[in-house]
Amino acid sequence: MSAPTSSTTAEVDLSTFNPFDPTTLQCPYPHYQKMREDQPVLEVKALGMFLVTNHALVSEIIKDTVTYSSAFGNTSMPIPAEDRAKLVEVIAEAYPRVPTMLTADPPNHTRYRRLVSKAFTPRAIAELEPVIRSITTRLIDSWIDSGGIEFVTEFGVPLPVEVIAKALNVPDDRLVDFKRWSDDSIAGIGTSISIDQRVEAERGVNEFQRYFAAELDKRREHPQEDLLTNLLNARIDDDDPEVSDKRALDTPEMLSILQQLLVAGNETTTKMLTEMMRLLADNPAEWEKVKADPSRIPAIVEETLRLSTPTQGMFRIATRDVELGGVLIPKGARVVIVFMSANRDEAVFDEPDAFNPDRANITDHLAFSKGTHFCLGANLSRLEGRVALEEFCKRLGSFTLTDSNDFAYHPSFMLRGLVKLDLDIVSSTVAA
Ligand code: HEM
Repeated sequence: MSAPTSSTTAEVDLSTFNPFDPTTLQCPYPHYQKMREDQPVLEVKALGMFLVTNHALVSEIIKDTVTYSSAFGNTSMPIPAEDRAKLVEVIAEAYPRVPTMLTADPPNHTRYRRLVSKAFTPRAIAELEPVIRSITTRLIDSWIDSGGIEFVTEFGVPLPVEVIAKALNVPDDRLVDFKRWSDDSIAGIGTSISIDQRVEAERGVNEFQRYFAAELDKRREHPQEDLLTNLLNARIDDDDPEVSDKRALDTPEMLSILQQLLVAGNETTTKMLTEMMRLLADNPAEWEKVKADPSRIPAIVEETLRLSTPTQGMFRIATRDVELGGVLIPKGARVVIVFMSANRDEAVFDEPDAFNPDRANITDHLAFSKGTHFCLGANLSRLEGRVALEEFCKRLGSFTLTDSNDFAYHPSFMLRGLVKLDLDIVSSTVAA
């Protein structure tokens, strides 16, 4: 049994396209294909936004941060005024949510990004490899002889959560809270949850803020060798002629940075790891090849990123009236750049729906975006994918999808990933 990936575009009607439609959410590929063919810049009037779906136009947008701003506030959809008031009220109970990286434009963005990049140098990431490997082997030990697993809960979620928790020095007894705060942070992104659910999620974010504000306070008194202390010691240049000295980050800025690391680092990597297993189970010849030749691992990770594109899309706001692909986008309009569709653009990738780790232009995908907002954690998630697959190749003889899989995806049109993945597994020792 394999997951649905694509079907014909003949019956697709773009005039009624609704990204929240449950059927579309499960398999959006025919819609995106039709958009690339007929309307690569599609206005969805009912939602007041423009979807951009081909590789060339998505690339054009992400290069031009002046015309297409990332200051979209939060990554959710516009909401009615009375609902907004409820959210404002709950948010006021903790620290302000301020824009730092993902939702900031240059030059502000550049200052924050420069500062946080220092903690994400290739060397700093490489130093995490032993940590990633030891978490990976411990997780594998816990199920390798069980005969079967639900991959999302038994590997896909815990690996990235524990890695980011280690990077942020979160103790093991707070891991469950840490994951909950991560879920709360993304609850409203590209989903149509109720206002009560959103309010509840913002309460979780408040809890996250209070926890880390207290941890930062502890380090003001007793500095440690960790990322939180580095944030406290960091000095940012405001480029303000009135201010001659660089200043320390304030608490809302530090919390915003920490929240982005938490959110961006967890959910996306979970989805990538899960999809990697689904793709390998669907393509057993590729599993056999990579097991025999582990030098194929980076290409498997890269092709998984292209095909799965965990961050399906991202918002931009047009800062002026602009024509794109022959369509006028008015100033202030919300634009959705659909990385997932760009990554299956037949103008760039031959047989774009096929899993082919040998394709020549394998790194031309936009799963991590490009340019100014290029994913800060790209090397970290690639490393997690590589280490996980190296260990699977050593320990797993074979694995297959069970009939219990329904291949349901989370109902979000921003973050795409399977709810669960049931696998029958045979360990290498048994297989030998
Ligand atoms: C497979 C895993 C991941 C995927 C698919 C992914 C995807 C993305 C994408 C598409 C963007 C750019 C959005 C835009 O252009 O507006 C982005 C930005 C970002 N990502 Fe990731 N990400 C992943 C893992 C991570 C990890 C592990 C971290 C950190 C621990 C991280 C931290 C960030 C941050 C901080 C930004 C904002 C960068 C900026 O605006 O300058 N990501 N990510």
